[in-house]
Amino acid sequence: MTSNMQCRNQFNLISVNDFKNSDIKSIFEIADSKKFNVKNGGLGISLFFENSTRTLLSFESALLNCGLKSVRFDVSSSSIAKEETVINTIRTINSYSPDFLIMRSKQTGEPLIYQKYLDSNTKMINAGDGTGEHPTQALLDFYTILQVLNIKFSDSCLKNITIAIAGDIMHSRVARSNIFLLSRFGAKIILISPLSFLPQSIRNFYSNLGCSFAYTLREIKANFVMLLRIQKERMEGKARLTFPSNFGIFNEADLNHAYLMHPGPINERVEITEDMAYLSSKSLISKQVENGSLIRSAIIKFLSDK
Ligand code: CP
Repeated sequence: MTSNMQCRNQFNLISVNDFKNSDIKSIFEIADSKKFNVKNGGLGISLFFENSTRTLLSFESALLNCGLKSVRFDVSSSSIAKEETVINTIRTINSYSPDFLIMRSKQTGEPLIYQKYLDSNTKMINAGDGTGEHPTQALLDFYTILQVLNIKFSDSCLKNITIAIAGDIMHSRVARSNIFLLSRFGAKIILISPLSFLPQSIRNFYSNLGCSFAYTLREIKANFVMLLRIQKERMEGKARLTFPSNFGIFNEADLNHAYLMHPGPINERVEITEDMAYLSSKSLISKQVENGSLIRSAIIKFLSDK
């Protein structure tokens, strides 16, 4: 049973596992068609407790692409500063009857918990929760992979594809959603991380999902390398970890012919160079950003028609 169905009799997007393969096929078809218009319009509210550029802007433009109105809830100027709780904030938002509440939270699991404070006509979309999930990022990454290799969607469309995910895996909701999603469609996933960013408990968890492991990018041959930055914002109170000096993608040779992906934001000269991110013909980073708007528009359209 999927996470949203346990709580509500409607269609929310909290985890990539909330979408069946046929749902994802429909979303990709909507993205291909670029026909996003929602008949009766509606309202979407974005509620972001953590900073964002790509996800926030692409969701807000997606709502407009679909003919909905978009309202941004500014946490810093809201009554949360007067100690109103998040639950009561969501109850208040619910009173305005939005069609969508798009929520990014610092704490893992919050969208799953807070969805029950919304009426059934408001759909919750998880825009990234702590170290939990970032389902729309994984969906746009999946779409980008199929697009660049011109692969037709099917239940096993990634069966010949190897994807290396490299960097701060332990703190990454992007890694988690991509591992769930891409392995479901047959991809071989290799996790590459200094030990300090991939403790044994998390290795065991991902090993049980079929992932394999390597210590450097030079050891492996992959079709795609997804690079992750160090997520310092999840290290409060902990000693700040750093990558070893030989870790990252700093020239074409480091890629070993793979395509380069990165969810952004990039940290230049930490895990990647500006040239590799924006000038290399193997970099898909700008394409990922472009597809973010496309896929989020398709998700809004798909969920609106549910
Ligand atoms: N990839 C991603 O979630 O980027 P933002 O934090 O800028 O939204």
